[in-house]
Amino acid sequence: MGPPLFERPQSGQRAVLVHLQFPFVEYDEADSEFADLARSCGAQVVARIGGSRSRPDPRYFAGRGKAEEILAAVTEHGAELVVVNHALSPSQERNLESLLKCRVLDRSGLILDVFARRARSHEGKLQVELAQLRHLSTRLVRGWSHLERQKGGIGLRGPGETQLETDRRLLAERIKNLRGRLEKVGRRRAQGRAARRKAETPTVSVVGYTNAGKSTLFNRLTGADIYAADQLFATLDPTLRQLDLPVGDPVILADTVGFIRDLPHELIAAFNATLEETHQASLLLHVVDAANPERQDHVEQVNAVLEDIDARDIPQIIVMNKIDLTGQAAALERDEAGRVWRVCCSAITGQGLDLLMRAVAEQCYPDLIHGELALPPRAAKLRARLFDLGAVSEERFTADGESLLSVVVSRQDLERVCKQEGMDVDELLAAGTRSAVPLEPDAV
Ligand code: GTP
Repeated sequence: MGPPLFERPQSGQRAVLVHLQFPFVEYDEADSEFADLARSCGAQVVARIGGSRSRPDPRYFAGRGKAEEILAAVTEHGAELVVVNHALSPSQERNLESLLKCRVLDRSGLILDVFARRARSHEGKLQVELAQLRHLSTRLVRGWSHLERQKGGIGLRGPGETQLETDRRLLAERIKNLRGRLEKVGRRRAQGRAARRKAETPTVSVVGYTNAGKSTLFNRLTGADIYAADQLFATLDPTLRQLDLPVGDPVILADTVGFIRDLPHELIAAFNATLEETHQASLLLHVVDAANPERQDHVEQVNAVLEDIDARDIPQIIVMNKIDLTGQAAALERDEAGRVWRVCCSAITGQGLDLLMRAVAEQCYPDLIHGELALPPRAAKLRARLFDLGAVSEERFTADGESLLSVVVSRQDLERVCKQEGMDVDELLAAGTRSAVPLEPDAV
């Protein structure tokens, strides 16, 4: 990738945060989340300005009086950045900048900056740059000083072009170039997905609200060393790793970007591709921060995004993470139909992760039989065949000499060997269930 064409704010900037309330906008939690977002891109919050308006002011977004109040705060605290928790029009951003004499960032600009800091994969970086350029292209006007600091060097300007024309041309070229590269990466990824489908390897996608612990869980399960930080959006790209399960074949685990409320629309489009694996997944692990009082609201926000990308019908297991903070016990909980709906665990301490792996195996390979078979002594050959298949996890003997086998095996394999030995699968299973004492009752 070439050098960045445009500057982004430096970290450690002293920032004034502006958050106004409008009627009909629900924003209970937004204020602290907004501050977290600003901090996670390195801003040092020196003042916060709130207020309410019936509607945005066309010139400064905030009214004249409020704009003066922001100016006073900027001067008093020596702030170098003002971040506004709303979408500003390009002219509002410009007007505020000339009034405040410092950089102004709106919500989209802020989220883009956070994304830019977190992007790790090639595709993620390209996508962020594309979204940034698109955001910038609406703000490219004569007389605005941002680009002047980095005027095209020798050889950049075409014949007879003004600086603005050069900027526009460079921008358009860069956008075209990025689109081409993204298409190529996208094609390669689609090929990978097709190959996995052919090999019938299920993809399990880890989704969840930002900071729920997705990357930590992903790392813990796959042993991958992925950047996790106590910052929002530690993950930007879907990262794929193989996950070996206690039974059945391995699956592919995909880590995804953290979801967040009110993701600006232009960004939803730009980041949709990062959720493509989710779209194609056979199972979603919906990670929830059990210790966050807003967790229910977060679950709904995530489900709303899943609805938007048509992924609401994919089976989900709710992963109640961080139980080390809440003191809950590790548990695997089932719904009335016997399907796993929730696993309580901790990605940090590892409690409950065995239950989670079992739940994933059960969901991805539903025709695997996890059960007890009771074999009479005359079925010694069948017993040997089951051992040969690697299907037996434990064997005990009853008082009347029956062998009680705990098996995990596909129904197909089990039926084949039983037929060869002239025995009936369901009868053996029924007898097994009758004589079995649970080895390890599921904690519920
Ligand atoms: P985004 O990428 O922003 O969406 O975040 P994420 O969901 O990937 O969260 P991440 O794994 O980065 O974890 C966020 C914070 O929660 C980090 O500080 C983790 O150390 C912490 N964390 C994750 N899992 C647990 C857990 O089981 N217990 C505790 N106590 N902390 C956890």
